[in-house]
Amino acid sequence: MERREFVEACALGASGAIALMGQAAWAAQVRPKSYERVLLVDEAGKPLRASSLRPQTNYLFHYPFESTPVFLLDLGKRTSPIVLETKDKSRYTWPGGVGSRSSIVAFSAICAHKLVYPTRELSFISFRKGAALNPQTPSKGNDLIHCCADHSQYDPAKGAQVLNGPADQPLCAILLEHNARDDSLTATGTLGGELFDDFFRKYEMKLSLEVGPGARQTVRGQGVVRELEQFCRNPVRC
Ligand code: FES
Repeated sequence: MERREFVEACALGASGAIALMGQAAWAAQVRPKSYERVLLVDEAGKPLRASSLRPQTNYLFHYPFESTPVFLLDLGKRTSPIVLETKDKSRYTWPGGVGSRSSIVAFSAICAHKLVYPTRELSFISFRKGAALNPQTPSKGNDLIHCCADHSQYDPAKGAQVLNGPADQPLCAILLEHNARDDSLTATGTLGGELFDDFFRKYEMKLSLEVGPGARQTVRGQGVVRELEQFCRNPVRC
Protein backbone atom coordinates (compact mmCIF):
# COMPACT_ATOMS: atom_id res chain seq x y z
CA MET A 1 0.00 0.00 0.00
CA GLU A 2 1.34 3.46 -0.92
CA ARG A 3 1.95 5.94 1.90
CA ARG A 4 -0.70 8.35 0.65
CA GLU A 5 -3.27 5.55 0.57
CA PHE A 6 -2.41 4.62 4.12
CA VAL A 7 -2.82 8.19 5.38
CA GLU A 8 -6.11 8.56 3.56
CA ALA A 9 -7.31 5.28 5.05
CA CYS A 10 -6.54 6.58 8.53
CA ALA A 11 -8.31 9.84 7.78
CA LEU A 12 -11.39 7.95 6.67
CA GLY A 13 -11.58 6.14 9.97
CA ALA A 14 -10.32 3.20 11.92
CA SER A 15 -12.47 0.62 10.15
CA GLY A 16 -10.83 1.30 6.81
CA ALA A 17 -7.37 1.15 8.31
CA ILE A 18 -8.18 -2.08 10.12
CA ALA A 19 -9.44 -3.71 6.94
CA LEU A 20 -6.41 -2.56 4.99
CA MET A 21 -3.88 -3.53 7.61
CA GLY A 22 -5.51 -6.84 8.49
CA GLN A 23 -5.34 -6.01 12.19
CA ALA A 24 -7.59 -7.38 14.91
CA ALA A 25 -10.62 -5.54 16.20
CA TRP A 26 -9.27 -2.41 17.85
CA ALA A 27 -9.77 1.22 16.99
CA ALA A 28 -6.83 3.48 16.13
CA GLN A 29 -7.28 6.60 18.20
CA VAL A 30 -4.38 8.77 17.05
CA ARG A 31 -4.82 10.10 13.55
CA PRO A 32 -2.08 11.39 11.29
CA LYS A 33 -1.64 15.14 11.70
CA SER A 34 -0.95 17.05 8.51
CA TYR A 35 1.57 19.89 8.36
CA GLU A 36 3.15 21.66 5.41
CA ARG A 37 4.29 19.44 2.57
CA VAL A 38 8.07 19.88 2.65
CA LEU A 39 10.38 18.55 -0.05
CA LEU A 40 13.61 17.22 1.41
CA VAL A 41 16.68 18.71 -0.25
CA ASP A 42 20.42 18.38 0.11
CA GLU A 43 22.69 21.18 1.29
CA ALA A 44 22.96 22.51 -2.28
CA GLY A 45 19.17 22.86 -2.40
CA LYS A 46 18.68 19.97 -4.82
CA PRO A 47 15.97 17.39 -4.16
CA LEU A 48 17.37 14.63 -2.03
CA ARG A 49 17.30 11.25 -3.76
CA ALA A 50 16.15 8.47 -1.49
CA SER A 51 18.66 6.13 -3.10
CA SER A 52 21.49 8.51 -2.16
CA LEU A 53 20.98 7.96 1.57
CA ARG A 54 23.70 5.85 3.12
CA PRO A 55 22.14 2.98 5.07
CA GLN A 56 22.30 3.15 8.87
CA THR A 57 23.56 6.74 8.86
CA ASN A 58 22.13 9.55 10.98
CA TYR A 59 20.58 12.29 8.85
CA LEU A 60 18.82 15.29 10.34
CA PHE A 61 16.31 17.86 9.14
CA HIS A 62 13.85 20.14 10.92
CA TYR A 63 10.11 19.55 10.72
CA PRO A 64 7.32 20.46 11.20
CA PHE A 65 8.74 23.57 12.93
CA GLU A 66 11.97 25.42 12.24
CA SER A 67 13.40 24.30 15.61
CA THR A 68 12.13 20.72 15.89
CA PRO A 69 14.73 18.17 14.69
CA VAL A 70 13.96 14.91 12.91
CA PHE A 71 16.08 11.83 12.31
CA LEU A 72 15.95 10.50 8.74
CA LEU A 73 17.28 6.95 8.45
CA ASP A 74 17.60 4.34 5.76
CA LEU A 75 17.61 1.28 7.97
CA GLY A 76 18.83 -0.93 5.14
CA LYS A 77 16.07 -3.44 5.77
CA ARG A 78 12.37 -3.71 5.10
CA THR A 79 10.01 -2.46 7.80
CA SER A 80 6.40 -3.35 8.42
CA PRO A 81 3.41 -1.62 10.04
CA ILE A 82 3.06 -2.00 13.79
CA VAL A 83 0.48 -0.96 16.37
CA LEU A 84 1.90 1.42 18.98
CA GLU A 85 0.61 3.30 22.00
CA THR A 86 1.24 6.78 23.36
CA LYS A 87 1.70 7.43 27.07
CA ASP A 88 -1.99 8.29 27.39
CA LYS A 89 -2.85 4.86 25.93
CA SER A 90 -4.00 6.14 22.55
CA ARG A 91 -3.22 3.70 19.77
CA TYR A 92 -2.03 4.18 16.24
CA THR A 93 -0.60 2.10 13.45
CA TRP A 94 2.83 3.18 12.31
CA PRO A 95 2.80 2.44 8.57
CA GLY A 96 6.43 1.37 8.17
CA GLY A 97 9.09 2.96 6.02
CA VAL A 98 9.01 4.29 2.46
CA GLY A 99 11.21 3.81 -0.57
CA SER A 100 11.75 0.80 -2.79
CA ARG A 101 12.50 -1.38 0.23
CA SER A 102 10.24 0.34 2.78
CA SER A 103 13.44 1.02 4.69
CA ILE A 104 13.42 4.82 4.97
CA VAL A 105 11.94 6.16 8.20
CA ALA A 106 11.76 9.47 10.05
CA PHE A 107 11.15 10.27 13.71
CA SER A 108 11.16 13.38 15.84
CA ALA A 109 14.61 13.59 17.45
CA ILE A 110 13.12 14.91 20.70
CA CYS A 111 13.50 12.22 23.37
CA ALA A 112 10.14 11.25 24.87
CA HIS A 113 11.64 11.23 28.39
CA LYS A 114 12.98 14.71 29.13
CA LEU A 115 12.97 16.18 25.63
CA VAL A 116 16.71 15.99 24.97
CA TYR A 117 17.40 16.91 21.33
CA PRO A 118 20.32 17.44 18.94
CA THR A 119 21.73 20.96 18.83
CA ARG A 120 24.65 22.31 16.82
CA GLU A 121 26.88 21.96 19.89
CA LEU A 122 25.80 18.64 21.36
CA SER A 123 23.59 15.63 20.81
CA PHE A 124 22.85 12.93 23.35
CA ILE A 125 20.42 11.14 21.07
CA SER A 126 21.15 9.34 17.81
CA PHE A 127 20.84 6.11 15.87
CA ARG A 128 23.57 3.58 16.54
CA LYS A 129 24.50 0.79 14.20
CA GLY A 130 24.97 -2.37 16.23
CA ALA A 131 24.71 -2.44 20.03
CA ALA A 132 25.22 0.24 22.70
CA LEU A 133 28.77 0.73 23.96
CA ASN A 134 27.94 1.34 27.60
CA PRO A 135 28.09 -1.94 29.59
CA GLN A 136 25.90 -0.36 32.29
CA THR A 137 23.03 -0.13 29.85
CA PRO A 138 23.19 -3.13 27.54
CA SER A 139 21.27 -2.84 24.31
CA LYS A 140 17.91 -4.50 24.03
CA GLY A 141 18.83 -5.06 20.41
CA ASN A 142 20.94 -3.77 17.55
CA ASP A 143 20.48 -0.72 15.35
CA LEU A 144 18.51 1.35 17.85
CA ILE A 145 18.09 5.04 18.59
CA HIS A 146 19.84 5.67 21.91
CA CYS A 147 19.37 8.63 24.22
CA CYS A 148 22.51 8.79 26.33
CA ALA A 149 20.94 11.20 28.84
CA ASP A 150 19.11 8.45 30.74
CA HIS A 151 19.58 5.53 28.34
CA SER A 152 16.24 5.20 26.66
CA GLN A 153 16.40 3.00 23.58
CA TYR A 154 13.97 3.13 20.67
CA ASP A 155 13.64 0.69 17.79
CA PRO A 156 13.34 2.65 14.52
CA ALA A 157 12.34 -0.50 12.63
CA LYS A 158 9.32 -0.78 14.92
CA GLY A 159 8.06 2.78 14.75
CA ALA A 160 10.56 3.95 17.42
CA GLN A 161 8.92 1.74 20.02
CA VAL A 162 10.57 2.02 23.46
CA LEU A 163 12.74 -1.00 24.25
CA ASN A 164 14.57 0.27 27.30
CA GLY A 165 14.89 3.18 29.72
CA PRO A 166 12.52 5.70 31.23
CA ALA A 167 10.85 6.99 28.03
CA ASP A 168 7.15 6.26 28.22
CA GLN A 169 6.14 6.42 24.57
CA PRO A 170 7.65 6.01 21.09
CA LEU A 171 9.32 8.91 19.34
CA CYS A 172 6.73 10.76 17.30
CA ALA A 173 6.80 9.49 13.70
CA ILE A 174 7.23 11.90 10.81
CA LEU A 175 5.22 10.85 7.76
CA LEU A 176 7.09 10.70 4.48
CA GLU A 177 6.04 10.24 0.89
CA HIS A 178 8.41 8.74 -1.64
CA ASN A 179 7.94 9.72 -5.28
CA ALA A 180 9.11 6.68 -7.24
CA ARG A 181 9.32 8.70 -10.48
CA ASP A 182 12.03 11.06 -9.31
CA ASP A 183 13.08 9.27 -6.09
CA SER A 184 12.31 12.36 -3.99
CA LEU A 185 11.07 12.45 -0.40
CA THR A 186 8.43 14.77 1.03
CA ALA A 187 7.51 15.19 4.69
CA THR A 188 3.76 15.58 5.14
CA GLY A 189 2.88 15.34 8.83
CA THR A 190 3.24 13.46 12.09
CA LEU A 191 1.79 10.36 13.69
CA GLY A 192 1.95 9.51 17.38
CA GLY A 193 2.67 11.36 20.58
CA GLU A 194 3.68 14.89 19.69
CA LEU A 195 5.74 16.71 22.33
CA PHE A 196 6.18 20.02 20.54
CA ASP A 197 4.18 22.13 23.04
CA ASP A 198 6.24 20.75 25.95
CA PHE A 199 9.41 21.27 23.91
CA PHE A 200 8.62 24.92 23.20
CA ARG A 201 7.69 25.53 26.84
CA LYS A 202 10.85 23.91 28.19
CA TYR A 203 13.32 25.48 25.78
CA GLU A 204 11.70 28.81 24.94
CA MET A 205 14.72 30.95 25.81
CA LYS A 206 17.27 28.47 24.43
CA LEU A 207 15.43 28.14 21.12
CA SER A 208 15.16 31.88 20.71
CA LEU A 209 18.95 32.05 20.96
CA GLU A 210 19.59 29.03 18.74
CA VAL A 211 17.00 29.63 16.04
CA GLY A 212 15.77 33.18 16.58
CA PRO A 213 12.19 34.41 16.39
CA GLY A 214 11.22 31.74 13.85
CA ALA A 215 11.58 28.82 16.25
CA ARG A 216 7.84 28.09 16.25
CA GLN A 217 7.28 28.76 12.58
CA THR A 218 6.33 25.80 10.44
CA VAL A 219 8.86 24.80 7.81
CA ARG A 220 7.59 25.64 4.31
CA GLY A 221 8.64 24.50 0.90
CA GLN A 222 11.93 22.74 1.44
CA GLY A 223 13.78 21.15 4.33
CA VAL A 224 17.55 20.73 4.26
CA VAL A 225 18.87 17.29 5.19
CA ARG A 226 22.37 16.94 6.68
CA GLU A 227 24.29 14.16 8.29
CA LEU A 228 24.17 14.51 12.07
CA GLU A 229 27.97 14.77 12.19
CA GLN A 230 27.80 17.79 9.90
CA PHE A 231 25.02 19.44 11.87
CA CYS A 232 26.35 18.77 15.37
CA ARG A 233 29.91 19.36 16.65
CA ASN A 234 29.70 16.81 19.49
CA PRO A 235 27.46 13.81 18.90
CA VAL A 236 27.70 11.82 22.14
CA ARG A 237 27.83 8.02 21.90
CA CYS A 238 27.00 5.70 24.76
S1 FES B 1 16.07 12.55 28.11
FE1 FES B 1 16.33 10.80 26.85
S2 FES B 1 16.37 9.17 28.25
FE2 FES B 1 16.07 10.91 29.52
